[in-house]
Amino acid sequence: MKIRIKLLSFLLSLSILSAAQNVFAVGLTTEKKVEELLQKMTLEEKIGQMYQSRDGGQDSILKLVQKGNVGSFLGITDIILRNKLQKIAVEKSRLGIPLIFGFDTIHGYKTVFPIPLGQAASWNPKLAEKVAAVSAKESRSDGIDWVFAPMVDIARDARWGRIAEGFGEDTYLASLMAQAKVRGLQGYGDGLFGPDKVAACLKHYAGYGAAEGGRDYNTCEISQRTLREIYLPPFQAGVQAGAATIMSGFNEISGVPVTASRFLLTDILRGEWGFDGFVVSDYTSVRELIPHGIAIDETQAGKKALLAGIDMEMSSRCYLNNLSRLVRQDKISEKVIDQAVRRILRIKFDIGLFDNPYADPNKPSSVLLHKDHLELAREMARQSVVLLKNTNGILPVSKDIKSIALIGPLADSREDMMGTWKGVGDAEDVVTILEGIQDKASAECKINYVKGCDVKGDLIDGFAQAVEAAKKSDVVIMAVGESEKMSGEAHSRASLDLPGVQRELIEEVQKTGKPIVVLLLTGRPLAITWIDKNIPTILLGWHPGTQGGNGIADVIFGDYNPSGKITATFPRNVGQVPIYYNCKNTGRPPSESEYHTSRYIDSHWTPLYPFGYGLSYTTFHYSNLKVSPDKISMEQPVTISVDVKNAGKRAGEEIVQLYVRDVVGSVTRPVKELKGFEKILLKHGEKKTVSFTLTAEQLKFYNIDNQFVAESGMFKVMVGKNSVDCLESEFELTK
Ligand code: BGC
Repeated sequence: MKIRIKLLSFLLSLSILSAAQNVFAVGLTTEKKVEELLQKMTLEEKIGQMYQSRDGGQDSILKLVQKGNVGSFLGITDIILRNKLQKIAVEKSRLGIPLIFGFDTIHGYKTVFPIPLGQAASWNPKLAEKVAAVSAKESRSDGIDWVFAPMVDIARDARWGRIAEGFGEDTYLASLMAQAKVRGLQGYGDGLFGPDKVAACLKHYAGYGAAEGGRDYNTCEISQRTLREIYLPPFQAGVQAGAATIMSGFNEISGVPVTASRFLLTDILRGEWGFDGFVVSDYTSVRELIPHGIAIDETQAGKKALLAGIDMEMSSRCYLNNLSRLVRQDKISEKVIDQAVRRILRIKFDIGLFDNPYADPNKPSSVLLHKDHLELAREMARQSVVLLKNTNGILPVSKDIKSIALIGPLADSREDMMGTWKGVGDAEDVVTILEGIQDKASAECKINYVKGCDVKGDLIDGFAQAVEAAKKSDVVIMAVGESEKMSGEAHSRASLDLPGVQRELIEEVQKTGKPIVVLLLTGRPLAITWIDKNIPTILLGWHPGTQGGNGIADVIFGDYNPSGKITATFPRNVGQVPIYYNCKNTGRPPSESEYHTSRYIDSHWTPLYPFGYGLSYTTFHYSNLKVSPDKISMEQPVTISVDVKNAGKRAGEEIVQLYVRDVVGSVTRPVKELKGFEKILLKHGEKKTVSFTLTAEQLKFYNIDNQFVAESGMFKVMVGKNSVDCLESEFELTK
């Protein structure tokens, strides 16, 4: 501090306040500091702040940094290089404005947690927040100031590879998860943007998950009502939680690429929601306005994106190469540039980069993969596991079992456990399923591991050995599914079947008549109808992360009673997709008995497993649903309560879900919408009453005049263990 004050008086005495040393009078508010700095910046320096480079140490980039022409880097995880770049920015550039380093810490940095879709299945925002806090801590320790997460895109189509990165199909759950993640990453109260925190980035604004045919980057056709009711709320929730940044998507919505949508980026985001952070484009999405066909060249692309509300351009250089010319030609006002720069500088100040621009290279070793982080990863892995079927009670496996056949291409795969966007996760730190099981089973238990086949391809050479292993074992666990590279960005699939010959492998092993557990490791819902029909026990483990093997072994051997529930509908076949629980009723709702109704001639219309579905090793009985009062006014709350009893033999957690249907509206309303849930722990025999309170505020939607209102009338109430299996009642909302 002393040095700072001395330096300040020295510089003041020279009447130049060289920001090369980042010196600001003590007590200045962030706003004042930003304005002070902005005054000194040349137009080129301002535009430099709006450029995020993907390049690292090349001479040309170092020169750009020194000239103040780069504001940010993405994807730099070499702390030495990061500090080198930062040193040039802070000590060699004219104004010394620090760079901000962004990275895709999506579900963990070095400690990799289950994919977000798996985390969502925990229905545990508090745990998700802790996971985010650890991800922030590890990232920041390694010089990452800003993470491109959470992804809050609603996904109703399992073909879309990026379904793995989000929280599933439900807006309410995704909104809670969005807030939890933002809080975990950025902190709150005194901890806001503390030394272990990073700036969060809600992405991909907006509607990206609605890609037609589930094909990544594809066109999205979304009505205003659906946009506002389904796709936007998780973003708004994240903004309310204080998210520092937002990333625009690659997609268009109804003819307007979102990276050039003033309606989304300015009118709604700034105007309606009051967002005051900055917006970054997605990777080259500004330049992609050219192939989208709304810009003739990079100049026009840059102009359109800027005027729409993109503050920082990721990777492409439409801004860097063209904006100053446009200002000089009076084609855009410098004020627009100033506004974007203000927003960027504000975040740089807020996360402490001006005070502390460098990362300590000695820090990561004591932070990354800390034992507490691994413990949390194990906890999240087991809470994200979903028991899909357990008819013969094969699970949990007794620890006294004498032999286990562990078969399948994912049983001993390290890489695949981490899933898409694994941060800087290292395969060698991963606990495989084989290791997790070996660690838990008794020393006498013989584990017969056989890979059997690859995830993809048609080689069946390993089948015979797999069958042999099954024959000599008491139980068979088959770890099958998708490799880490089969979901995520640019990894859409046209089929939702188990890839390769994995199903054939299961069929062969099944012929042995041994009890089989299928352990499904996947980045998306798969159409496992055959497995569901033929195999008694199915456990869904997603891509469970660094501690996946341990977390899943905890479930297999009953040290943890599974409680996860799916947040994306599992279809029977790919032809049903998109399929989601909060659909409309139609004028001809599907019916078994009536032919001319909304159904298929070659498939049932219902999903294989509905939204919110998941079993436990115990059973829960619901009774005594009460709705009180049964008539409420717009100002009055209604209380909904239900008794839930653990009717089985072991303690377990249950996720009690509340759905509501607005029976008649001025526009059609979904057949049900999740409005609340609670995860409760019940000892065996224990009973708890779970209560929810609803107000008219939670019943609002965009009516026929596009006003966000609750309409009077009857509301059906459904409370239960998933979106289908519910007790029902009703109440009336009066004017
Ligand atoms: C993805 C973003 C990601 C960015 C930076 C893009 O291709 O769509 O989600 O944050 O790359 O890596």
